[in-house]
Amino acid sequence: MKRIQYHTYGGPEVMRVEDFDLPPPGEGEVAVSVRFAAINPIDWKLRSGQMKIVTGKKFPRAMGMDFSGTVLSVGPGVTRLKVGDAVFGLARFKEIGAFAEAVITKEAFLTRKPDDVSFEEAACLGTPGVTAWNGLIDKARLQAGQHVFINGCAGAVGEAAVQIALMHGAIVSGSCSTRDIQRAKTLGLQTVYDYRNTQVSSIAVRFDVVYDTAATLAVSTGVAMLRPGGVFLDLNPGPGKFIRAIFDRRLKPIIGSPRAEILDKLAKAASAGSFRIPIGISVALHDAIQLIGDIENGRKPGGKAVIEMVNEIG
Ligand SMILES: NC(=O)c1ccc[n+]([C@@H]2O[C@H](COP(=O)([O-])OP(=O)(O)OC[C@H]3O[C@@H](n4cnc5c(N)ncnc54)[C@H](OP(=O)(O)O)[C@@H]3O)[C@@H](O)[C@H]2O)c1
Repeated sequence: MKRIQYHTYGGPEVMRVEDFDLPPPGEGEVAVSVRFAAINPIDWKLRSGQMKIVTGKKFPRAMGMDFSGTVLSVGPGVTRLKVGDAVFGLARFKEIGAFAEAVITKEAFLTRKPDDVSFEEAACLGTPGVTAWNGLIDKARLQAGQHVFINGCAGAVGEAAVQIALMHGAIVSGSCSTRDIQRAKTLGLQTVYDYRNTQVSSIAVRFDVVYDTAATLAVSTGVAMLRPGGVFLDLNPGPGKFIRAIFDRRLKPIIGSPRAEILDKLAKAASAGSFRIPIGISVALHDAIQLIGDIENGRKPGGKAVIEMVNEIG
């Protein structure tokens, strides 16, 4: 089988499309024949070695977190899914491997794809949806009527966060670039600020939740935008922020943590038409290396970039 992998941490030049052997799924694991995979910033952050303390020194390493496809085989202890099910979800953080004809992940990182959501759309939902949910629902405990500010409201995590906040009855404002203002307004935000000509720290309104989905705000800026009792959700966590968060309960560093229960809710919302991540471009596996490199070097595909797998195995 084919996948994108690399033999040393580095820039776009280390990626190759190569053959690999898919092992049988282990306890609680599911093997999936991939139909579409979606590109996220985490893909090149992992490949560049930014998290090598966690990802280690064993090569080749695969790439790709988010995907949709059909269950090929299941390991012992798998109860929710069976061979032939259409699914979407996330690969495991350490092993990843969704930019491939097939991938193995934990059953808990998958959910059934609703019939009325395409494989292409479903592939885009995992990381943005789970990360947005982890912040707003798990950490901020968002309540109806609260006022949320989404910094980067037209990005993938940002757009997911806007939709999840609206689903939970929040009032949502946010910031994005000039190009995305009109599209952001159609999502139902109360006020959209152009980050290129507005210092968000100068916005007079105070918020119950500020979610920095663009990962560009200083903690001091985020917490200054809060009402008393509010929380600042930080998508750019590091050890220093986790230590600071012990002493400052307004700061909540977020690390995306998938659970079946979240993915089930995202699938239901996608089927109901209240949750989607727009797609900007779709390419075949052999064109994906060029595309990943272009996006990490600043190309804006105008929505999610997805990779279509054409294979005969499932
Ligand atoms: N901690 C975690 O577990 C976790 C999980 C998922 C993602 N992340 C991180 O979260 C970030 C966003 O991911 P994504 O997939 O949503 O990326 P994305 O789709 O590229 O979205 C980023 C958005 O931020 C906007 N932006 C850039 N600078 C901004 C600023 N100063 N103010 C407001 N908006 C700004 C961009 O707009 P323009 O392109 O128009 O400038 C873009 O729409 C990445 O750094 C990613 O690594 C972390």
